[in-house]
Amino acid sequence: SKRLGILTSGGDCPGLNAVIRGVVKASWQLGYECLGFLKGYEGLYDPVRYITLTPKNTAGILTQGGTILGSTNKGRFAATVGVQDRVDLDPELLEGVAGTVKQLGIEGLVCIGGDGSLAVAQQFHEFGIPVVGVPKTIDNDLSATAYTFGFSSAVACATDALDRLHTTAAAHERIMVLEVMGRHAGWIALHAGIAGGGDVILIPEIPWSFENVCHKILDREVHGKHFTLVVVAEGAHLPTGEMVGEERRGAQKKLGGIGPLIARELEERLHREARCVVLGHLQRGGAPTTFDRVLATQYGAHAVRLIVERKFGQMICYNPPDMGSVPIIEAVHQIRLVDSEGAAVQAARALGISFGDCEA
Ligand code: F6P
Repeated sequence: SKRLGILTSGGDCPGLNAVIRGVVKASWQLGYECLGFLKGYEGLYDPVRYITLTPKNTAGILTQGGTILGSTNKGRFAATVGVQDRVDLDPELLEGVAGTVKQLGIEGLVCIGGDGSLAVAQQFHEFGIPVVGVPKTIDNDLSATAYTFGFSSAVACATDALDRLHTTAAAHERIMVLEVMGRHAGWIALHAGIAGGGDVILIPEIPWSFENVCHKILDREVHGKHFTLVVVAEGAHLPTGEMVGEERRGAQKKLGGIGPLIARELEERLHREARCVVLGHLQRGGAPTTFDRVLATQYGAHAVRLIVERKFGQMICYNPPDMGSVPIIEAVHQIRLVDSEGAAVQAARALGISFGDCEA
C-alpha cells in the first residue's frame, strides 16, 4: 500500500496532535498507511523507531497538548541549527535517513517544526528526500505564514495569566511584570498584552527605556490607577546604556530572566512594589484553542495534499483567507518580526498602551 511518514520536531506546542490526526485521517481516506517516527528526526535513523498510525489509535488526540510521537530540540539533527544558519548535517545521517525512507517505501515525509527543524527539512529536500513542512511555533515568527499553530494557544495562556494578575495587582496597588516567551519576536507579548489589558508591552522590535516605562506608571497614578501591568517578551533587549554585555547577562541569570530584572529596576526607581511572573513552559502545554485546532487540522489535510501532488520541499502557509505553500527555504531564511508600524501596534498605541518608547 501507499505510505507516508510524519514526525514532530523541536519544542512542542499545543496543536501537534491535531496536525498528526489531520494527516492520519486525510491520508487514510486516500488509502495511505501513515508511519509516525518517534522523537523528531531521531526516529528516522539508527535506530529507526516508528509506530503505525491509524484513525483508531489517533482517536481522541485532537484536544491533547504535547505530541504522541515525542519531540526533541536537541540531538544529532539539531546540533548546528540556528537562526538564518544553514544546517550542516553529517552526510552519514542524510544517507541513513534517505535509506530509511526508501526502505520503508515512504512517498513523502511530513515534518512539523519551527525554524530549526524546517532548516533540517530543507537539507533533506536538497538531498532528495521527499519532505513537506508544517509551520509550528508558539512564537509565530516564521516567515511566509501569518499564523503558526500553537501561537493562539500560547496567547490564550498568557492572557489568562494577565487576567489573574490584573485583580491581584489592583488589590495590592502593585506593578506586575509578566514575562512571556518569544526569543526573537514579540508576537505573544503584543497579542496577550492587548487581549489582557496590559498597560506596557515590551518587545524586541521596539527599543524602550526604563525612563519611559516609569513615566507611564506615574502617569497612570495621576489618573487614579495605582497599579500597572507590564508584559515583556523574553527576548526584549534591555535599553542601550542601562547595562551591557556580561553585566546584563549576569544580572539576568541571577534574577532568572529579563522580567525579574525589570521588576527589580522599577521597584528601585519608583519605590513601589513590583512582582514578576515568568510564565515559561505553561505557554507550551495544555489543550489547543479552537483556532489552533482548526488551523492544525487544515495544515494536516493540506500536507497530505502536497504529498499527493508531489510538491516536495514546500511548507504549508496560511495567509488568510488562503491556505497555500511556499518553498521551505523562504520560510526559514528569516525570522518574521512584529511590524512596529503595523495595525496591532497602532491600535494598542491608540488605546494608550505604552511600548516604553518615546511615542508613549
Ligand atoms: O521556540 C519556542 C520557545 O518557546 C521559545 O520562545 C523559548 O525560548 C524556547 O522555545 C524554549 O525552549 P526549551 O526550553 O524547550 O529549550
